[in-house]
Formats: sequence, C-alpha cells, structure tokens
Amino acid sequence: AKHVGILALEVYFPNTYVSQEDLEAYDKVQPGKYTLGLGQRNMAFTGDQEDVVSMSLTAVHSLLEKYDIDPCDIGRLEVGTESALDRSKSIKTFLMSLFAEHGNNDIEGVDSLNACYGGTAALFNAVNWVESRAWDGRLALVLAADIAMYAAGPARPSGGCGAIAMLVGPDAPLDLERGLCASHMEHAYDFYKPCGFYPLVDGKSSVACYLMALDKCYASLCEKFERCRSNFERQRRLARSSSGSAKGSTGDMPSSPPSLTLADVDYCVMHSPFVKMVRKGFARIFYQDHLRAQLRQPARQEKVDAKLGAHGLLPRVRSSSTPNQDPRPLIAGATAHITGPRAKTAADILVEEEMDRSSAATLDAYPADPDNFPSESYADRDLERAAVAASSGAFSSMVEPSLMAASECGNMYAASVHAGLASLVEREGANLEGRRILMYSYGSGLAASLWSVVGRKVEGKFALSNVSSQTRIRERLHARRKAEPAEFVSTLELLENRYRMASFTPEKPLEDLRSGTFYLSGVDALYRRAYAFK
Ligand code: ACO
Repeated sequence: AKHVGILALEVYFPNTYVSQEDLEAYDKVQPGKYTLGLGQRNMAFTGDQEDVVSMSLTAVHSLLEKYDIDPCDIGRLEVGTESALDRSKSIKTFLMSLFAEHGNNDIEGVDSLNACYGGTAALFNAVNWVESRAWDGRLALVLAADIAMYAAGPARPSGGCGAIAMLVGPDAPLDLERGLCASHMEHAYDFYKPCGFYPLVDGKSSVACYLMALDKCYASLCEKFERCRSNFERQRRLARSSSGSAKGSTGDMPSSPPSLTLADVDYCVMHSPFVKMVRKGFARIFYQDHLRAQLRQPARQEKVDAKLGAHGLLPRVRSSSTPNQDPRPLIAGATAHITGPRAKTAADILVEEEMDRSSAATLDAYPADPDNFPSESYADRDLERAAVAASSGAFSSMVEPSLMAASECGNMYAASVHAGLASLVEREGANLEGRRILMYSYGSGLAASLWSVVGRKVEGKFALSNVSSQTRIRERLHARRKAEPAEFVSTLELLENRYRMASFTPEKPLEDLRSGTFYLSGVDALYRRAYAFK
C-alpha cells in the first residue's frame, strides 16, 4: 500500500468547560497565572455520566457516520489511553460493540499505554499494519482518549479531556513520511499513576523531560535526514556509472540538501499539556537550528568550539553542508507527489528573518552543542526567554494554527497531539496540500517521537477541504456550556468518590450532553459498565 496515513479525523470533547480566568480568581492566584503563565483559555471537563469509554464510543461512532464507513470495512482498531477503567479489559473491547452489531468481530489490535504517548503508539501500529504483509485490504481505526485531572494545586489548571478517532489507510491526504521519524525513550519518574485517583507529578521535571526528549528527537531526525542525503548521493553515483556517462554532469539531478531545518517544515504540531509548553518546545527547535546554522559558518565553528572547550566539552564531529536546496524529493516514498522546488512560505521567510534579528547575544553566550545539550540548559530562564522571543514570529505562523483544541480543552493526554493535527486541518484545509507538518508526541515516563506528515491532494470524501469542513471543532467549542469553578471542583470531588465504585447510577444531567453522544447509564454490583446513546 502506498501513501499510508490518516484519511479522516474526528475530535470529541465534552460540552462543559470552565474558564481559566475564572479559575484564577477562584483559586486566589495572581491574575494571568493560568491564562498567560500556562497560555490556556478554557478547560473541558466531564461529569459522572461520561467516562473514557463513552467518549471513545462517541468519537468512533461519529467518525463512521460522518464519512459513511461500513463497520465491516475496518480490519484493525488500536486504542491509546492512560485513563483505562480496568487493569485487564481493554477499551478496544468496549468499542467492539459498534462493530459486532454489524457482524464484524474480526478486528485486530488492543490498547497501548504510556502516558500521553499511547495514541501515537496506536497510530504507528495501524500504519505499520496497512504497510505490512499482514494487511488484509481493510482500513484501520485509531482511537486516542483521556481525561486529565490533577489534585488541587499548580497542576490542576493543566488538566483537560478529549478523544480523537482517526481513520488510517492508503492514498491518504495526511501521509506519514516514512523514514522521517525519530524517537527518544528512557526511564523517568516525571509523571506516573502508581495508585489513587490523581497522578503523581513532578511538574518541573516533566517540563524538562519534555524539552530534553524533543531536543534528542530533533537532533536524531536531523541526522536521519542527512543519512537520506548520503543514500541519495550513493544512488546518484550508481546511476551515473551505470549510464556510462563520462560527462560527469549532474545538471538534471538536484544537488545535496543541507541538514533539516525549520525552513523545510511548514507547520509544527506538538503534544500540548498547556500552550506555554508548546511555545517553549518550539523555541528549543528554533534554538537548535540557530546553533546548527552558526556551526555551518567556519568562523563561527571555531568560536563555538573554543567556548565548548572552555567549558570542558568536546566539539562535535560535523558533516559538511551545502547551500539551501529543497530536500523533500529525497525522502523515501511519500514525497513523490511534491513536484518542483518548493515555494517559500511565509514561515520560511519568518524563520530566516528571525534568525538574523534573534536575541543573538543571549543565545550565542550559551556554550551548547546541538547534539548534546547540558541539562542546565533546560532551567536557564534567560536562554529560554531569548529563544521564545526570537521564535515568536515563526511560532505564530507555524504552530498557532494547531492550538485551537488545546487552548480550549486543555490537556487531552493521548489525544492531544492528534487533536492538534485536526485543529490544523480544520483551519488550513486544502492549503496543507504539499506542506510538511512536523509532529511531536511526548508521554511521561518517558516515550517521545518526532515525525513528519505531508499533506496530499486526494479526491472525494477524504480530500483535505472536505475533512476540514467535517471536523467542526470551532463550532462545537462555541456551543459549549460554561460552568462556574465551584461546579468544576465539586464535579472532580464527585468523580473522585466514584473512582473504583460499584453499584451506582450517574447523577449528572443528560441535558449537558450533545445529541449523538454515548453516556454511562450505570455501573452494577460487579463493576460492569453499561452505556447508552443520546
Ligand atoms: N501572570 C503571568 N504569568 C505568570 C503569572 C502571572 N500572574 N504567575 C506565574 N506566571 C508564569 C510563570 O512565570 C511561569 O512562566 P514560565 O514557564 O514562562 O517561566 C508559568 O506561569 C508557570 O508558573 P510556575 O510558577 O513556574 O509553575 P507552576 O507552579 O504554576 O506549575 C506546571 C506549572 C509545573 C506546568 C504545573 O502546572 C504542572 O505540574 N502541570 C502538570 C505537569 C505537566 O503538564 N507537565 C508537562 C509535560 S508532561 C504532561 O504532558 C503531563
């Protein structure tokens, strides 16, 4: 199968929210702490009539309806979540009721777990299946859903919730660019759920882990990109020798591209625990680009090496780079549809401009190697501020268009980065055709990946213009009911009481749900959950 990727996306979030500004007043913190400090506007929350299973049922059902997909045409269903209600029974098995009633019980896949990374693991499993010899020709479905709740304190405003269903198959408008994916995984205790209703979280450490994993992924992606270039050069040499050409001319061949930079990317979509985190993450990528750009200038290289040496650090081994050229046709497989040199986007121009007038003094003062940042760099406020300021123009054009669901619903954990992609598709639609989107997924504990998706022109119901008009995130956000902070807090207390409880009927009203929503109708004495449809 070719051009395997995402055909369509459907985001679900509850119909109730609390305003972060109201929460600041309620929590008696300084005005601006949650809105400016974390960058959040509102936070979605559920009552006891919804849970992660009902949200997942709603997202999958709604996607199948909107795109008129026959449930029998699904051959794999993968779920990513960290909100599982049972230590044995997967959420996937609950979702099977939507398929079994149509006679389809032949669906592979179960749940993937690792904090906010589960949805990405599920997506990669689904894409790999469609690309593999095991594929039976049917489509795959990926569901990512979570409810993020924190104990009272500074982490609470970084909660949220939501679900996303993604249809995966060949000839996709959102094509995963194979070969352009880098991961970083290691053991950390930054956020985990060993017991109890709320997670244990070391907030500052989780922020540093997010940034460190992003740095590692980006450095590794740049290296892989350069490796693709060497493969291409080898192929070019082979082509030349097999054609017996003695001319040595490469006039019809593109010359070598430089290492990957933000100028090769049109949009960045990142896991968003809160918008300020994404802001900091993007600034890190920008900072790496800035360092690499400097290292490409011999005079700068010497200065940076001297600075590294003064701090007892070894200079990195550098590969040579050549002037800017469109590198995308060199990446295996997925990019064949991108023809001709890529026109400069506003983002490219911004990146270049910002590089020149960046807060260079502060950025340059830091003795960093882009392949190996010292851990102090994650706590250096001056460095962070300078990188954030320098990258603000590029952030507005490359990142902000993906932040609608994140700033309005809060952290959707496993669904977060994918809901960012859906937000971007809703806003940009067919403009994404021929554009490269860099995706960053981070799950505490920790697992992270950075990969590329390329927008493609396809006809019919999966055309980006159609998917964009079907998502209707903005419309539904505006139609939500605003709750007072006191209601939000008492609802959290109710959910805390319901945690691991048997024999109850939810008390929150069904009026709070939009029609077309699944809800929890009751839990029996054996903890078995029943669901109904509004
Ligand atoms: N006006 C404007 N900004 C303010 C104000 C104010 N009145 N008060 C504080 N701020 C700013 C701070 O300057 C700081 O900005 P900076 O990050 O640019 O320096 C920001 O608000 C946060 O304030 P802090 O005091 O540094 O941190 P806080 O104690 O509020 O905790 C944290 C923030 C750690 C993110 C907390 O919400 C948390 O633990 N969240 C859960 C963990 C999390 O989301 N981690 C992210 C990755 S892991 C994951 O996805 C779960």
